[in-house]
Amino acid sequence: MMQDDIQSVLISQEELADAVQKLGERISKDYEGKNLMLVSVLKGSVVFMADLMRAITIPASIDFMSVSSYGSGVKTSGVVRIIKDLDEELNGRDILIVEDILDSGMTLSYLKEHIQAKGAHSIRIATLLDKPERRKVDIHPDYSCFSVPDEFVVGYGLDYAERYRNLPYVGILKPRVYEK
Ligand code: IMP
Ligand code: MG
Repeated sequence: MMQDDIQSVLISQEELADAVQKLGERISKDYEGKNLMLVSVLKGSVVFMADLMRAITIPASIDFMSVSSYGSGVKTSGVVRIIKDLDEELNGRDILIVEDILDSGMTLSYLKEHIQAKGAHSIRIATLLDKPERRKVDIHPDYSCFSVPDEFVVGYGLDYAERYRNLPYVGILKPRVYEK
């Protein structure tokens, strides 16, 4: 069973729902009258994105990007590769990048520059989780739901080797899973 690989539940389903709802309300206020486009970074942010977009009450468009920086390991390779770029034009849009977790920050600092170069009007970052202890580049989330300790976490979209994304909560993975 998937649950057997989880050391402990870090953020429950209820806590997630509550935080995402509040974030949606905040974003709805902050982006009133703007040209909001949510950019979800596949695949880790899909669950967060699906919940967050429904908690936003102002008009918003969505798009998806897919990047790879990790392979199937637990440490960043430092190399960000775009696997799927944006479909929509960015001119004049207020972009909110929706991420699962801000770890070293390499992925998001690369994405921010990439999106800036495409002519966005503004760019901000909304991350579900922030792991500030592991930051390697100077980048801060504009919106963050939870700060997490330096442990490998899975669930609510986050994976280890493509597994555990469908857990409804965020849990700490037992180290024996990735150490074997
Ligand atoms: P960064 O470029 O190091 O900030 O890495 C960001 C990406 O690494 C995230 O979008 C995740 O896919 C992955 N990642 C970092 N930490 C974790 C974790 O604890 N669990 C699952 N994925 C993680
Ligand atoms: Mg990811």
